[in-house]
Amino acid sequence: MIEQFKKDIAQGLSSNPKTLPSKYFYDEMGDELFVQIMHCPEYYLTKAELDIFTNQTENIVNALELSPHTYFELIELGAGDGLKTKELLKLLDKQDFKFDYLPIDISQNALNQLEESINKEFPTISVKTQQGDYFQVLETLHDSNHPKIVLFLGSNLGNMQDEIASDFINKLGSCLSNGDKLFLGVDLIKSASIVLPAYNDSKGITRDFNLNLLSIINRELEADFDLNSFSHQPQYTEKEGIAKSFLVSNRKQIVKIKTINQTFSFEKGEKIATEVSRKYNDTILNQIIENTPFQIGIKLTDARLFFANYVLKIN
Ligand code: AVJ
Repeated sequence: MIEQFKKDIAQGLSSNPKTLPSKYFYDEMGDELFVQIMHCPEYYLTKAELDIFTNQTENIVNALELSPHTYFELIELGAGDGLKTKELLKLLDKQDFKFDYLPIDISQNALNQLEESINKEFPTISVKTQQGDYFQVLETLHDSNHPKIVLFLGSNLGNMQDEIASDFINKLGSCLSNGDKLFLGVDLIKSASIVLPAYNDSKGITRDFNLNLLSIINRELEADFDLNSFSHQPQYTEKEGIAKSFLVSNRKQIVKIKTINQTFSFEKGEKIATEVSRKYNDTILNQIIENTPFQIGIKLTDARLFFANYVLKIN
């Protein structure tokens, strides 16, 4: 784990332009900052998807073609706090559907809290958590031959470059069978006046979230990044449809990373690309799933058309 981390950081900072992988944002502080981001008034994504799960729960069950009599597995990738999913669980529980809920997350801490809160709120629902990387856990899906619904919400797909997203969805498809479905939540392309503030909130929580990546490297790899010498910079154009976050060096400086025995020099104004958050429409999603076994089925959107949940089917 730590060896891969060292390798990824060394490689990213040796590239031109410099990059750092966004998957490393989520230590305990990163998890906490992301929760705070979700509560920011500017961060519309979570609210928009919760709107769909709260006001169209019945539509979701219909779109997924679920039947109360046929047992299925409800698998969630990157479940987090399960806030949106609980709206669906509530209805499935009330109408006596037969299923197991299988949340998967990289954070064991998040899974423990989720399991506890579901046991409390829905004592009759069977929850089986699995900790791990999406890819590791996908392999184990094969082990059962029950019908499967996979939830991949929150526009988490957006952190992957399109080609990687394609490979990921394809790999997921190869672990599923005919009739299984992916319920994919994605942020929709919209104007910069709405998207940019979501990645540059007025309280500076997103800035702290971005800078926290440098704290993680300082702690884990004994580096000496000076957090005051880097600034958060978001970018987005509606034409491209991809929100990008950068850390910009405020001055010419040299950073030493002790455990990999390397130094990295930064020019004043030099950027490190830390995150992409892709926004979608039907055309882009169709391109991404083109060479996968999936086809777009029903699409549900929130009242403001900010966010969409797509049913992707394997026939
Ligand atoms: C958790 C990946 C959906 O890209 O919108 C929030 C992460 N980054 N603010 C996103 C994030 C900056 C978030 N996702």
